[in-house]
Amino acid sequence: MRPLTRIVVSDADHGGDPPEEARPVPAGFGEHLSLRNFNRLADFIQNSAGIRLPLAKKSMVEGRLHRRLKALGLASGDEYCALLFGGGLEGEASHLIDVITTNKTDFFREPEHFRLLVARVLPDLLEQPVRIGIGRPLKVWSAACSTGAEPYTLAMVLDDFARGRRGFRFEIVGTDICTGALDKARMAVYPAEMIDPVPPDWRKRYVLRTRDPSDASVRMAPFVREMVRFGQLNLMEESYPLDVMDVIFVRNILIYFDRETQRRVLIRICDRLRAGGYLFVGHSETVAGNGLPLESVAAALYRRV
Ligand SMILES: C[S@@+](CC[C@H](N)C(=O)[O-])C[C@H]1O[C@@H](n2cnc3c(N)ncnc32)[C@H](O)[C@@H]1O
Repeated sequence: MRPLTRIVVSDADHGGDPPEEARPVPAGFGEHLSLRNFNRLADFIQNSAGIRLPLAKKSMVEGRLHRRLKALGLASGDEYCALLFGGGLEGEASHLIDVITTNKTDFFREPEHFRLLVARVLPDLLEQPVRIGIGRPLKVWSAACSTGAEPYTLAMVLDDFARGRRGFRFEIVGTDICTGALDKARMAVYPAEMIDPVPPDWRKRYVLRTRDPSDASVRMAPFVREMVRFGQLNLMEESYPLDVMDVIFVRNILIYFDRETQRRVLIRICDRLRAGGYLFVGHSETVAGNGLPLESVAAALYRRV
């Protein structure tokens, strides 16, 4: 997988600046971000990561920038922008994207999808002439995998499925734009309550607890960690340097993009999905009306025609 496309920040990125009117009230002492600078940041984030940041998100952006201001010893969002857009913060773009992205995720998030995977998708793929999973490994991609709960849920579900079927093999790739989320995904350490949705017998099989009773964290067992390969991939890239997949999960990310970006991302995703392969999107997301080669199978589940 390629590293994150180099993101260059320049004053030209944001086009014409709006007049600096309606300066909003500062979010907190010393963290002021003017409307003009908010718009520059919003344009930059949209161009590089696809994420839309309407004005309603201004205080969220100010709150999240706080971490970067502290790390860099800067007093305000405006000072940060002056440096960022003036070329004085080499390599800052990926840190900025890291703090702006929303990494919320869960094990067995939208659990119906994992039931459908086992009950409909895998049996159908196994019945195809190559017997996908037996004739060759099943290839699954968790795009925008955040800190790893989604690909590790897939690993547990597929491993359990394989126990009943001799010779069933699979490969899982998890990608995200966010470096910090990928580091956490590779570590596979989670607060213990995060695995509440994992069935108790699966927790025994797939999850490790520390012997230290004061440590409330858990870790995916080594053999589960080995089932997932992680890499950085920005869905805004022109093409995705991955194999053609049998199943793709791209959930709870399209909602952050505008319609045209969603369409372009979905075209590239379809390019990486084999005919007869399956695409899962988030339950609040749709691919309808984009003229894509997908037919609806169930809620938020599509099949490449
Ligand atoms: C809300 S999380 C969803 C995680 C998981 N798919 C789920 O449903 O639980 C959205 C993820 O998309 C990632 N993301 C945002 N923009 C992206 C982009 N342009 N390319 C790849 N990943 C992106 C974020 O870093 C974040 O981890």
